Amino acid sequence: MALQRRARGLEALLVLLALQAGDFSFVGLRERPFHSLRTRLHAGRVVFLGSPACVEVVLERLCQAQNEKGFEVCAVVSRPPKRVKKAITKTPVHALADKLGVSVLVPSSAKDPDFLDELEKLKPDVCVTAAYGEYLPKRFLQAPKLGTVNLHPSLLPRWRGASPVQRCLVAGDTETGITILYTVAKMDAGPIIVQEKLPLNGSETSPELLDYLFGRGADLLVEVLPKLLKGGITMDTAEAQDERLVEKAPLISKDEGKLWPHNETALQMRDKVRGFAGWPGTTLPLALSGSMAPLEGFRVKVSSAEVASLDAVKDSISPDAAPEELFLVDAGEEPAVALRPANDAENVLLLRSFHVPGKPHEVPAKTFHKGYMSFQPAKWLGPKEEAELVAAPSVGTKKKQRRVRGA
Ligand SMILES: *[C@@H]1O[C@H](CO)[C@@H](O)[C@H](O)[C@H]1NC(C)=O
Ligand SMILES: *[C@@H]1O[C@H](CO)[C@@H](O)[C@H](O)[C@H]1NC(C)=O
Repeated sequence: MALQRRARGLEALLVLLALQAGDFSFVGLRERPFHSLRTRLHAGRVVFLGSPACVEVVLERLCQAQNEKGFEVCAVVSRPPKRVKKAITKTPVHALADKLGVSVLVPSSAKDPDFLDELEKLKPDVCVTAAYGEYLPKRFLQAPKLGTVNLHPSLLPRWRGASPVQRCLVAGDTETGITILYTVAKMDAGPIIVQEKLPLNGSETSPELLDYLFGRGADLLVEVLPKLLKGGITMDTAEAQDERLVEKAPLISKDEGKLWPHNETALQMRDKVRGFAGWPGTTLPLALSGSMAPLEGFRVKVSSAEVASLDAVKDSISPDAAPEELFLVDAGEEPAVALRPANDAENVLLLRSFHVPGKPHEVPAKTFHKGYMSFQPAKWLGPKEEAELVAAPSVGTKKKQRRVRGA
Protein backbone atom coordinates (compact mmCIF):
# COMPACT_ATOMS: atom_id res chain seq x y z
CA MET A 1 0.00 0.00 0.00
CA ALA A 2 2.65 2.45 1.11
CA LEU A 3 4.80 1.59 -1.89
CA GLN A 4 1.89 2.12 -4.23
CA ARG A 5 1.14 5.48 -2.69
CA ARG A 6 4.78 6.47 -3.05
CA ALA A 7 4.81 5.39 -6.68
CA ARG A 8 1.75 7.45 -7.41
CA GLY A 9 3.33 10.44 -5.68
CA LEU A 10 6.47 10.07 -7.77
CA GLU A 11 4.44 9.85 -10.93
CA ALA A 12 2.56 13.01 -10.06
CA LEU A 13 5.85 14.80 -9.39
CA LEU A 14 7.27 13.70 -12.72
CA VAL A 15 4.20 14.91 -14.50
CA LEU A 16 4.34 18.22 -12.71
CA LEU A 17 7.99 18.67 -13.67
CA ALA A 18 7.25 17.65 -17.21
CA LEU A 19 4.41 20.11 -17.53
CA GLN A 20 6.53 22.91 -16.15
CA ALA A 21 9.33 22.08 -18.53
CA GLY A 22 6.89 21.86 -21.40
CA ASP A 23 8.03 18.31 -22.07
CA PHE A 24 5.13 15.95 -22.43
CA SER A 25 6.99 12.74 -23.11
CA PHE A 26 6.96 11.89 -19.40
CA VAL A 27 3.21 12.13 -19.31
CA GLY A 28 3.15 8.91 -21.30
CA LEU A 29 3.46 7.16 -17.90
CA ARG A 30 -0.27 7.41 -17.59
CA GLU A 31 -1.47 8.35 -21.04
CA ARG A 32 -5.21 8.45 -20.59
CA PRO A 33 -5.93 10.61 -17.53
CA PHE A 34 -3.48 13.26 -18.66
CA HIS A 35 -4.49 13.29 -22.27
CA SER A 36 -7.36 15.68 -21.66
CA LEU A 37 -5.11 17.92 -19.58
CA ARG A 38 -2.56 18.00 -22.35
CA THR A 39 -5.25 18.83 -24.88
CA ARG A 40 -6.60 21.62 -22.78
CA LEU A 41 -3.16 23.11 -22.32
CA HIS A 42 -1.85 22.82 -25.84
CA ALA A 43 -4.34 22.11 -28.59
CA GLY A 44 -5.23 24.95 -30.93
CA ARG A 45 -8.95 25.06 -31.55
CA VAL A 46 -9.74 24.81 -35.26
CA VAL A 47 -13.14 25.28 -36.91
CA PHE A 48 -13.41 23.99 -40.49
CA LEU A 49 -15.82 25.49 -43.03
CA GLY A 50 -16.46 23.65 -46.30
CA SER A 51 -19.23 22.12 -48.37
CA PRO A 52 -18.59 20.09 -51.58
CA ALA A 53 -17.01 16.66 -52.04
CA CYS A 54 -13.73 18.06 -53.40
CA VAL A 55 -12.85 19.49 -49.95
CA GLU A 56 -13.75 16.40 -47.90
CA VAL A 57 -10.04 15.59 -48.08
CA VAL A 58 -9.23 18.76 -46.10
CA LEU A 59 -11.47 17.79 -43.17
CA GLU A 60 -10.18 14.23 -43.33
CA ARG A 61 -6.52 15.31 -43.15
CA LEU A 62 -7.23 17.80 -40.36
CA CYS A 63 -8.87 15.10 -38.26
CA GLN A 64 -6.11 12.56 -39.00
CA ALA A 65 -3.37 15.01 -38.05
CA GLN A 66 -4.99 16.72 -35.07
CA ASN A 67 -3.45 14.76 -32.19
CA GLU A 68 0.01 14.53 -33.65
CA LYS A 69 0.13 18.20 -34.69
CA GLY A 70 -1.27 19.66 -31.49
CA PHE A 71 -4.63 21.02 -32.59
CA GLU A 72 -8.24 19.97 -32.33
CA VAL A 73 -11.05 20.23 -34.89
CA CYS A 74 -13.77 21.47 -32.55
CA ALA A 75 -16.56 22.05 -35.11
CA VAL A 76 -17.45 22.03 -38.79
CA VAL A 77 -19.57 24.64 -40.55
CA SER A 78 -21.26 23.72 -43.82
CA ARG A 79 -24.04 24.92 -46.14
CA PRO A 80 -27.50 23.80 -44.94
CA PRO A 81 -28.98 20.51 -46.17
CA LYS A 82 -30.97 20.78 -49.41
CA ARG A 83 -34.17 19.12 -50.44
CA VAL A 84 -33.40 16.98 -53.50
CA LYS A 85 -36.40 15.04 -54.84
CA LYS A 86 -38.17 14.99 -51.46
CA ALA A 87 -35.05 13.71 -49.64
CA ILE A 88 -33.08 16.07 -47.39
CA THR A 89 -29.46 15.93 -48.53
CA LYS A 90 -26.54 17.09 -46.41
CA THR A 91 -23.44 18.53 -48.05
CA PRO A 92 -20.65 15.94 -48.48
CA VAL A 93 -18.57 17.74 -45.81
CA HIS A 94 -21.53 17.71 -43.38
CA ALA A 95 -22.02 13.95 -43.94
CA LEU A 96 -18.30 13.30 -43.40
CA ALA A 97 -18.25 15.37 -40.20
CA ASP A 98 -21.16 13.26 -38.87
CA LYS A 99 -19.17 10.13 -39.65
CA LEU A 100 -16.08 11.50 -37.91
CA GLY A 101 -18.12 12.57 -34.89
CA VAL A 102 -17.40 16.31 -35.24
CA SER A 103 -20.29 18.64 -34.42
CA VAL A 104 -21.70 20.59 -37.37
CA LEU A 105 -23.27 24.03 -37.71
CA VAL A 106 -25.36 24.78 -40.81
CA PRO A 107 -26.37 28.46 -40.78
CA SER A 108 -28.35 29.64 -43.81
CA SER A 109 -26.02 32.63 -43.82
CA ALA A 110 -22.67 33.29 -42.16
CA LYS A 111 -24.14 36.66 -41.12
CA ASP A 112 -26.79 34.98 -38.93
CA PRO A 113 -26.32 36.46 -35.40
CA ASP A 114 -27.28 33.18 -33.65
CA PHE A 115 -24.61 31.37 -35.64
CA LEU A 116 -22.03 34.05 -34.83
CA ASP A 117 -22.92 33.72 -31.12
CA GLU A 118 -22.27 29.98 -31.33
CA LEU A 119 -19.04 30.46 -33.22
CA GLU A 120 -17.76 32.91 -30.59
CA LYS A 121 -18.66 30.44 -27.83
CA LEU A 122 -16.43 27.85 -29.52
CA LYS A 123 -13.47 30.20 -28.95
CA PRO A 124 -11.63 29.13 -32.10
CA ASP A 125 -7.95 29.90 -32.50
CA VAL A 126 -8.13 29.50 -36.28
CA CYS A 127 -10.95 29.04 -38.78
CA VAL A 128 -10.09 27.19 -42.00
CA THR A 129 -12.28 27.59 -45.08
CA ALA A 130 -12.28 25.60 -48.33
CA ALA A 131 -15.11 26.02 -50.85
CA TYR A 132 -17.56 26.90 -48.09
CA GLY A 133 -19.68 29.02 -50.42
CA GLU A 134 -20.67 31.97 -48.20
CA TYR A 135 -19.33 35.48 -47.75
CA LEU A 136 -17.80 35.88 -44.26
CA PRO A 137 -18.77 39.14 -42.47
CA LYS A 138 -16.44 41.19 -40.30
CA ARG A 139 -17.85 39.80 -37.05
CA PHE A 140 -17.02 36.29 -38.25
CA LEU A 141 -13.44 37.27 -39.08
CA GLN A 142 -12.97 38.71 -35.58
CA ALA A 143 -14.00 35.46 -33.86
CA PRO A 144 -10.87 33.30 -34.33
CA LYS A 145 -7.95 34.55 -32.21
CA LEU A 146 -5.31 33.96 -34.89
CA GLY A 147 -7.41 34.62 -37.98
CA THR A 148 -9.18 32.73 -40.75
CA VAL A 149 -7.23 30.96 -43.48
CA ASN A 150 -8.57 29.84 -46.84
CA LEU A 151 -7.48 27.14 -49.30
CA HIS A 152 -7.85 28.64 -52.77
CA PRO A 153 -7.18 26.47 -55.85
CA SER A 154 -5.26 28.96 -57.98
CA LEU A 155 -2.02 30.92 -58.07
CA LEU A 156 -3.31 34.09 -56.43
CA PRO A 157 -3.53 36.95 -57.25
CA ARG A 158 -4.48 35.25 -60.53
CA TRP A 159 -8.09 34.01 -60.38
CA ARG A 160 -9.70 35.65 -57.38
CA GLY A 161 -13.34 34.62 -57.10
CA ALA A 162 -15.78 31.75 -57.15
CA SER A 163 -14.54 29.70 -60.13
CA PRO A 164 -10.72 29.82 -60.15
CA VAL A 165 -10.01 26.36 -61.58
CA GLN A 166 -12.58 26.68 -64.35
CA ARG A 167 -11.39 30.16 -65.37
CA CYS A 168 -7.76 29.06 -65.34
CA LEU A 169 -8.40 26.16 -67.73
CA VAL A 170 -10.70 28.14 -70.03
CA ALA A 171 -8.03 30.86 -70.27
CA GLY A 172 -5.53 28.21 -71.39
CA ASP A 173 -3.10 28.76 -68.47
CA THR A 174 -0.07 26.48 -68.54
CA GLU A 175 0.25 26.38 -64.77
CA THR A 176 -2.00 26.49 -61.75
CA GLY A 177 -1.60 25.81 -58.06
CA ILE A 178 -2.96 25.95 -54.56
CA THR A 179 -2.71 28.94 -52.24
CA ILE A 180 -3.28 29.11 -48.50
CA LEU A 181 -3.96 32.70 -47.47
CA TYR A 182 -5.48 34.78 -44.70
CA THR A 183 -9.08 35.80 -45.25
CA VAL A 184 -9.77 39.54 -45.20
CA ALA A 185 -12.95 41.49 -45.97
CA LYS A 186 -12.03 41.79 -49.67
CA MET A 187 -12.55 38.55 -51.61
CA ASP A 188 -9.39 36.39 -51.89
CA ALA A 189 -7.20 39.45 -51.31
CA GLY A 190 -5.47 38.53 -48.01
CA PRO A 191 -1.73 37.89 -47.54
CA ILE A 192 -0.38 34.52 -48.72
CA ILE A 193 0.92 31.93 -46.24
CA VAL A 194 2.03 29.31 -48.74
CA GLN A 195 1.61 28.61 -52.43
CA GLU A 196 2.51 25.57 -54.53
CA LYS A 197 2.60 25.49 -58.34
CA LEU A 198 1.45 22.74 -60.69
CA PRO A 199 2.33 22.73 -64.41
CA LEU A 200 -0.57 21.89 -66.75
CA ASN A 201 -0.24 19.68 -69.83
CA GLY A 202 -3.51 20.49 -71.58
CA SER A 203 -5.49 17.37 -70.74
CA GLU A 204 -6.61 18.11 -67.17
CA THR A 205 -10.27 18.86 -66.42
CA SER A 206 -11.80 20.97 -63.64
CA PRO A 207 -13.18 18.12 -61.47
CA GLU A 208 -9.89 16.21 -61.39
CA LEU A 209 -7.86 19.39 -60.80
CA LEU A 210 -10.11 20.46 -57.92
CA ASP A 211 -9.59 17.08 -56.25
CA TYR A 212 -5.84 17.18 -56.80
CA LEU A 213 -5.32 20.78 -55.68
CA PHE A 214 -7.39 20.46 -52.50
CA GLY A 215 -5.51 17.23 -51.73
CA ARG A 216 -2.19 19.09 -51.94
CA GLY A 217 -3.71 21.98 -50.03
CA ALA A 218 -4.73 19.65 -47.21
CA ASP A 219 -1.14 18.38 -46.90
CA LEU A 220 0.28 21.91 -46.87
CA LEU A 221 -2.32 23.01 -44.34
CA VAL A 222 -1.43 20.42 -41.71
CA GLU A 223 2.22 21.45 -42.13
CA VAL A 224 1.62 25.18 -41.62
CA LEU A 225 -1.12 25.05 -38.97
CA PRO A 226 1.21 24.23 -36.03
CA LYS A 227 3.47 27.17 -36.96
CA LEU A 228 0.47 29.42 -37.27
CA LEU A 229 -0.91 28.29 -33.91
CA LYS A 230 2.46 28.99 -32.26
CA GLY A 231 2.55 32.50 -33.74
CA GLY A 232 5.41 31.70 -36.16
CA ILE A 233 3.21 32.84 -39.04
CA THR A 234 0.93 35.86 -38.75
CA MET A 235 -1.07 38.18 -40.96
CA ASP A 236 1.94 40.56 -40.83
CA THR A 237 4.59 38.04 -41.84
CA ALA A 238 2.51 36.51 -44.68
CA GLU A 239 3.20 37.86 -48.16
CA ALA A 240 0.96 40.62 -49.51
CA GLN A 241 -0.52 40.01 -52.97
CA ASP A 242 0.58 42.09 -55.93
CA GLU A 243 -2.60 43.99 -56.83
CA ARG A 244 -1.30 44.66 -60.36
CA LEU A 245 -1.52 40.97 -61.23
CA VAL A 246 -5.11 40.40 -60.13
CA GLU A 247 -7.38 38.38 -62.46
CA LYS A 248 -11.03 37.85 -61.56
CA ALA A 249 -12.76 34.47 -61.70
CA PRO A 250 -16.49 35.21 -61.55
CA LEU A 251 -19.11 32.51 -61.20
CA ILE A 252 -19.86 30.62 -64.41
CA SER A 253 -23.18 30.98 -66.17
CA LYS A 254 -24.81 28.07 -67.99
CA ASP A 255 -24.58 29.79 -71.38
CA GLU A 256 -20.80 29.87 -71.25
CA GLY A 257 -20.76 26.13 -71.92
CA LYS A 258 -21.63 26.70 -75.60
CA LEU A 259 -18.84 26.09 -78.10
CA TRP A 260 -18.76 28.40 -81.13
CA PRO A 261 -16.80 27.05 -84.12
CA HIS A 262 -17.57 30.23 -86.10
CA ASN A 263 -15.47 32.46 -83.83
CA GLU A 264 -13.39 30.27 -81.48
CA THR A 265 -10.12 28.48 -82.22
CA ALA A 266 -9.70 24.74 -81.72
CA LEU A 267 -7.57 25.43 -78.65
CA GLN A 268 -10.16 27.78 -77.12
CA MET A 269 -12.87 25.16 -77.60
CA ARG A 270 -10.74 22.40 -76.14
CA ASP A 271 -9.99 24.51 -73.08
CA LYS A 272 -13.69 25.27 -72.60
CA VAL A 273 -14.41 21.54 -72.68
CA ARG A 274 -11.78 21.01 -69.96
CA GLY A 275 -12.80 23.97 -67.82
CA PHE A 276 -16.55 23.43 -67.96
CA ALA A 277 -16.39 19.65 -67.48
CA GLY A 278 -18.36 19.00 -64.31
CA TRP A 279 -20.56 22.07 -64.68
CA PRO A 280 -22.17 23.31 -66.92
CA GLY A 281 -20.63 20.93 -69.48
CA THR A 282 -20.10 21.95 -73.11
CA THR A 283 -22.38 21.70 -76.11
CA LEU A 284 -21.73 22.08 -79.82
CA PRO A 285 -24.40 23.32 -82.27
CA LEU A 286 -24.65 20.72 -85.05
CA ALA A 287 -26.98 20.08 -87.98
CA LEU A 288 -27.58 16.33 -88.19
CA SER A 289 -29.77 13.80 -89.85
CA GLY A 290 -30.01 10.13 -89.06
CA SER A 291 -31.60 9.55 -92.49
CA MET A 292 -32.11 11.31 -95.81
CA ALA A 293 -34.63 13.64 -94.08
CA PRO A 294 -33.61 17.33 -93.80
CA LEU A 295 -30.89 18.23 -91.30
CA GLU A 296 -32.00 19.30 -87.84
CA GLY A 297 -30.22 21.45 -85.31
CA PHE A 298 -28.99 19.97 -82.03
CA ARG A 299 -26.78 21.09 -79.21
CA VAL A 300 -24.73 17.95 -78.80
CA LYS A 301 -22.89 17.49 -75.51
CA VAL A 302 -19.17 16.83 -75.76
CA SER A 303 -17.14 15.78 -72.74
CA SER A 304 -13.66 15.60 -74.23
CA ALA A 305 -11.81 17.29 -77.08
CA GLU A 306 -8.30 17.50 -78.47
CA VAL A 307 -6.50 19.76 -80.91
CA ALA A 308 -4.64 18.38 -83.96
CA SER A 309 -3.02 20.09 -86.92
CA LEU A 310 -5.12 20.14 -90.08
CA ASP A 311 -2.17 18.64 -91.97
CA ALA A 312 -2.26 15.52 -89.80
CA VAL A 313 -5.84 14.66 -90.83
CA LYS A 314 -6.05 16.28 -94.28
CA ASP A 315 -6.14 12.95 -96.14
CA SER A 316 -9.52 12.08 -94.59
CA ILE A 317 -11.13 15.40 -95.57
CA SER A 318 -12.57 15.77 -99.06
CA PRO A 319 -11.19 18.90 -100.78
CA ASP A 320 -14.54 20.21 -102.06
CA ALA A 321 -16.42 19.82 -98.75
CA ALA A 322 -18.16 22.83 -97.20
CA PRO A 323 -16.04 24.40 -94.44
CA GLU A 324 -18.62 23.49 -91.77
CA GLU A 325 -18.61 19.80 -92.65
CA LEU A 326 -17.49 17.24 -90.06
CA PHE A 327 -15.31 14.23 -90.94
CA LEU A 328 -14.37 10.93 -89.38
CA VAL A 329 -10.55 10.83 -89.28
CA ASP A 330 -7.85 8.46 -88.09
CA ALA A 331 -6.44 9.77 -84.84
CA GLY A 332 -4.55 7.41 -82.61
CA GLU A 333 -6.10 4.12 -81.54
CA GLU A 334 -9.70 5.11 -82.21
CA PRO A 335 -11.04 7.31 -85.01
CA ALA A 336 -12.31 10.77 -84.06
CA VAL A 337 -14.64 13.31 -85.62
CA ALA A 338 -12.76 16.39 -86.88
CA LEU A 339 -14.22 19.88 -87.01
CA ARG A 340 -12.55 22.82 -88.78
CA PRO A 341 -13.10 26.11 -86.88
CA ALA A 342 -13.74 29.09 -89.18
CA ASN A 343 -11.05 31.27 -87.57
CA ASP A 344 -8.33 28.66 -87.23
CA ALA A 345 -6.85 27.67 -90.58
CA GLU A 346 -4.18 25.35 -89.21
CA ASN A 347 -6.00 23.26 -86.62
CA VAL A 348 -8.91 20.93 -86.18
CA LEU A 349 -10.87 20.05 -83.06
CA LEU A 350 -10.97 16.28 -82.54
CA LEU A 351 -14.02 14.89 -80.78
CA ARG A 352 -14.09 11.35 -79.47
CA SER A 353 -17.50 11.17 -77.83
CA PHE A 354 -20.95 12.69 -78.31
CA HIS A 355 -24.17 12.83 -76.39
CA VAL A 356 -27.09 13.66 -78.67
CA PRO A 357 -30.11 15.13 -76.79
CA GLY A 358 -32.82 12.55 -76.19
CA LYS A 359 -30.37 9.64 -76.28
CA PRO A 360 -29.58 7.74 -73.09
CA HIS A 361 -25.80 7.48 -73.51
CA GLU A 362 -22.69 9.10 -74.79
CA VAL A 363 -21.38 7.32 -77.92
CA PRO A 364 -17.88 7.12 -79.41
CA ALA A 365 -17.03 8.90 -82.66
CA LYS A 366 -17.39 5.72 -84.75
CA THR A 367 -20.96 5.10 -83.55
CA PHE A 368 -21.85 8.77 -83.96
CA HIS A 369 -20.55 8.67 -87.52
CA LYS A 370 -22.62 5.60 -88.34
CA GLY A 371 -25.81 7.09 -86.86
CA TYR A 372 -25.60 10.70 -88.01
CA MET A 373 -22.90 11.21 -90.63
CA SER A 374 -23.27 8.33 -93.08
CA PHE A 375 -26.53 9.42 -94.77
CA GLN A 376 -25.65 13.10 -95.11
CA PRO A 377 -22.67 15.08 -93.87
CA ALA A 378 -23.03 16.64 -90.43
CA LYS A 379 -22.24 20.37 -90.11
CA TRP A 380 -21.50 22.76 -87.32
CA LEU A 381 -23.77 25.79 -87.00
CA GLY A 382 -23.17 29.48 -86.45
CA PRO A 383 -25.40 31.41 -84.02
CA LYS A 384 -27.89 32.49 -86.70
CA GLU A 385 -28.50 29.05 -88.19
CA GLU A 386 -28.50 27.61 -84.72
CA ALA A 387 -31.29 29.94 -83.62
CA GLU A 388 -33.29 28.83 -86.65
CA LEU A 389 -32.62 25.12 -86.33
CA VAL A 390 -32.36 24.36 -82.62
CA ALA A 391 -35.62 24.42 -80.69
CA ALA A 392 -35.94 26.60 -77.55
CA PRO A 393 -34.08 25.93 -74.26
CA SER A 394 -34.66 22.19 -73.90
CA VAL A 395 -32.89 20.93 -76.98
CA GLY A 396 -34.52 18.00 -78.72
CA THR A 397 -38.28 18.10 -78.37
CA LYS A 398 -40.19 14.82 -78.31
CA LYS A 399 -40.79 15.07 -82.05
CA LYS A 400 -37.14 15.65 -82.82
CA GLN A 401 -36.00 12.86 -80.55
CA ARG A 402 -38.38 10.46 -82.24
CA ARG A 403 -37.16 11.38 -85.67
CA VAL A 404 -33.57 10.81 -84.73
CA ARG A 405 -34.27 7.65 -82.81
CA GLY A 406 -36.35 6.31 -85.71
CA ALA A 407 -33.39 6.78 -88.03
C1 LIG B 1 -1.24 15.23 -68.01
O1 LIG B 1 -1.27 15.23 -66.59
C2 LIG B 1 -2.28 14.39 -66.06
C3 LIG B 1 -2.38 14.62 -64.57
O2 LIG B 1 -1.18 15.03 -64.01
C4 LIG B 1 -1.97 12.94 -66.42
O3 LIG B 1 -2.93 12.07 -65.88
C5 LIG B 1 -1.95 12.82 -67.93
O4 LIG B 1 -1.58 11.53 -68.29
C6 LIG B 1 -0.99 13.84 -68.55
N1 LIG B 1 -1.20 13.81 -70.01
C7 LIG B 1 -0.23 13.98 -70.90
C8 LIG B 1 -0.67 14.00 -72.32
O5 LIG B 1 0.93 14.09 -70.58
C1 LIG C 1 -18.70 34.01 -80.42
O1 LIG C 1 -20.06 34.08 -80.77
C2 LIG C 1 -20.97 33.92 -79.69
C3 LIG C 1 -22.38 33.82 -80.25
O2 LIG C 1 -22.69 34.87 -81.09
C4 LIG C 1 -20.76 35.08 -78.72
O3 LIG C 1 -21.65 34.95 -77.64
C5 LIG C 1 -19.32 35.06 -78.23
O4 LIG C 1 -19.08 36.15 -77.38
C6 LIG C 1 -18.34 35.07 -79.39
N1 LIG C 1 -17.01 34.81 -78.89
C7 LIG C 1 -15.93 35.45 -79.29
C8 LIG C 1 -14.63 34.99 -78.74
O5 LIG C 1 -15.97 36.38 -80.09
